[in-house]
Amino acid sequence: MADDLSSKWRGDFPALSTTMHGKPLIFLDSAASAQKPQCVIDAMNKVLESGYSNIHRGLYEISQNLTRDFEAVRYKVAKFIGAPSEKNIVFTRNATEGINLVAQSWGRANLKQNDEIIITEMEHHANIVPWQIVAEQTGAIIRVVPITSDGTLDLEAFAKLLSDRTKLVAFTQISNAIGTINPVSDIVKMIRKYNSDIKILIDGSQGAVHQKVDVSDIDADFYVFTGHKLYAPTGIGVLYGKYELLEAMPPYQGGGDMIERVSFKTGTIYREAPYKFEAGTPAIIEVIGLGAAVDYLVDKSMYNIAAHEARLLEYATNKISNIKGLTLHGTKDLSQKAGILSFTMDNAHPSDIGMVLDQCGIAVRTGHHCAMPLMEAMNIGATARASLAIYSDKSDIDALINGLHKVNDLFG
Ligand SMILES: Cc1ncc(COP(=O)(O)O)c(C=O)c1O
Repeated sequence: MADDLSSKWRGDFPALSTTMHGKPLIFLDSAASAQKPQCVIDAMNKVLESGYSNIHRGLYEISQNLTRDFEAVRYKVAKFIGAPSEKNIVFTRNATEGINLVAQSWGRANLKQNDEIIITEMEHHANIVPWQIVAEQTGAIIRVVPITSDGTLDLEAFAKLLSDRTKLVAFTQISNAIGTINPVSDIVKMIRKYNSDIKILIDGSQGAVHQKVDVSDIDADFYVFTGHKLYAPTGIGVLYGKYELLEAMPPYQGGGDMIERVSFKTGTIYREAPYKFEAGTPAIIEVIGLGAAVDYLVDKSMYNIAAHEARLLEYATNKISNIKGLTLHGTKDLSQKAGILSFTMDNAHPSDIGMVLDQCGIAVRTGHHCAMPLMEAMNIGATARASLAIYSDKSDIDALINGLHKVNDLFG
């Protein structure tokens, strides 16, 4: 049993051999941002040390080589998420920018007064605020799917919200705050059955990290994720879009690299998708890092990673449930839950929990997790959240449990 719960990939992550407050670092905040494997660090350093230049425009060898490596990542990412072609892959700064791109490009071109956008109560603010902004700009209205008392989506209420005014539905694959895995394919089928013209965006920021994703199988119109949670660097994200939609959408930002020709006399002609959405010098080093992270995950297999995290979630759930005065939020059905444990304690505020754990060398996240409407729906101000990753281990959970006993000793 113990062997099943240790990560054979832990040694690939140099940051996990460091300390915090003089104690070995126990990193349980991967849902916020994950540590990076050595191969990602090496791939980025290699470009910086030899072969760095701008891409797409240089006629010289190192620019051409780096352009080839950069574009190869687009292909790798397409394969990783089951997209039909690299032309479906737009590089963005992060998931937030991907959602803003769809809201401002597709949304402003297609939404009008009283059209409806459906989102859910469990969204990260990144999948709420861009829709609020475009709703204000266009007169569209936002409808919100409620959650049930166990932190899953109320699918009956979801179905009832669909109407002939619904133009777009945007929802998360996995809740970052409480770990609920939504039945994405079933929801997409339900929407398509109601009206196949409704556009669907999936926020895969947590989904792409914890599950094998196949966007062709899911059949959503748009799928976004963010590199830094997927063991890649910050500053790089991905928007997948069905090509005919990307082709019809106007550019999000203008500038260099996204144009075919610029003329004061005849006007500007944009490049084809996805390039027309990538204005300015892209995040070259970060894209190379993302490519290395994707190679790493493909090598380890998302199925193996998901199985490891599921075993650890079960162990952690059993252990943490025995802590006096602790309430675990979210579904009890672990087959519908990713490795995210969100909890409160009777005698200690989440920020007190976070501070005691910090002194023990344990990093967890505390607060509203950028999901204030979800906290409101659950009638709690904040939680402490321990989140698991490829490198998480039984020893991390045991350290967390010891830390939580300390919290009880101090505040209980
Ligand atoms: C579900 C979900 N969506 C969106 C985001 C936003 O990611 P980013 O800040 O990298 O754009 C996050 C980050 O926590 C998330 O967990």
